[in-house]
Amino acid sequence: MARITASVYTSHVPAIGAALDLGKSQEPYWQPVFAGYDYGKQWIKEQKPDVIFLVYNDHATAFSLDFIPTFAIGTGAEYQPADEGWGPRPVPKVMGHPQLAAHIAQSVIQDDFDLTIVNKMDVDHGLTVPLSLMFGQPEAWPCAVIPFAVNVVQYPVPSGRRCFQLGQAIRRAVESFDGDLNVQIWGTGGMSHQLQGPRAGLINKEWDNAFLDRLIADPADLAQMPHIDYVREAGSEGIELVMWLIARGAMSDVAGGPAPELKQRFYHVPASNTAVGHLILENKQ
Ligand code: DHB
Ligand code: FE
Repeated sequence: MARITASVYTSHVPAIGAALDLGKSQEPYWQPVFAGYDYGKQWIKEQKPDVIFLVYNDHATAFSLDFIPTFAIGTGAEYQPADEGWGPRPVPKVMGHPQLAAHIAQSVIQDDFDLTIVNKMDVDHGLTVPLSLMFGQPEAWPCAVIPFAVNVVQYPVPSGRRCFQLGQAIRRAVESFDGDLNVQIWGTGGMSHQLQGPRAGLINKEWDNAFLDRLIADPADLAQMPHIDYVREAGSEGIELVMWLIARGAMSDVAGGPAPELKQRFYHVPASNTAVGHLILENKQ
């Protein structure tokens, strides 16, 4: 059977991608950001996942106000890096896993979550920056990726509770796949940031660190937090953090297994307008 072996959580600031692409990762401003991922880069080389189920948000790149899927699963064979205004990032195309994605879609929809099926879309910094942070600059991404886009841009957004339950359905789906696959689930976006209005530039270190504590130790309780708390405490774009609850909901302890092992915890301010957070949790086998 396929199994979820670990979850990875990370912010996705576009300027991080630009810093890497333009050879600036060792400059004093960026060096401490990238240093937080040195452990993860080594760890993932040893883990060798076959597939990453990558929960992220599109930023009006593939989707627009014309249509706004709350949850969209990529079932295609490949995805091109998006042009977000400065040309597409010079990163490899993303190879999908249509068989596993189609199986997850079938299982999760029959488990009462209404997903939108996407066979063709471009993927923006929300997906490519986390890959760059964990894999650096390879010729080709070393594994398949199933993009899973969540609407956290245009209200109404899904609740943390719904996201946490969806993660549990994704775990059931992966474990019922007939095939021996090492699957990781990533939750991306956040942490505190606000890009607009009078509170632009807002960062809330105390709140972010409490979020990390609770995500590790008591995600079921954290999942009860209403969306308005994210916006008040972590800024309008801090709502991206609900996506971390999808990944956390897919870990074994939520289904009665042992607590996962915390392999990495990192927090850094500033990176562009955003507080960067990063966790790695490994399931006990
Ligand atoms: C920034 C952060 C984001 O999450 C995003 O989508 C765009 C910009 C920033 O900090 O600049
Ligand atoms: Fe974002």
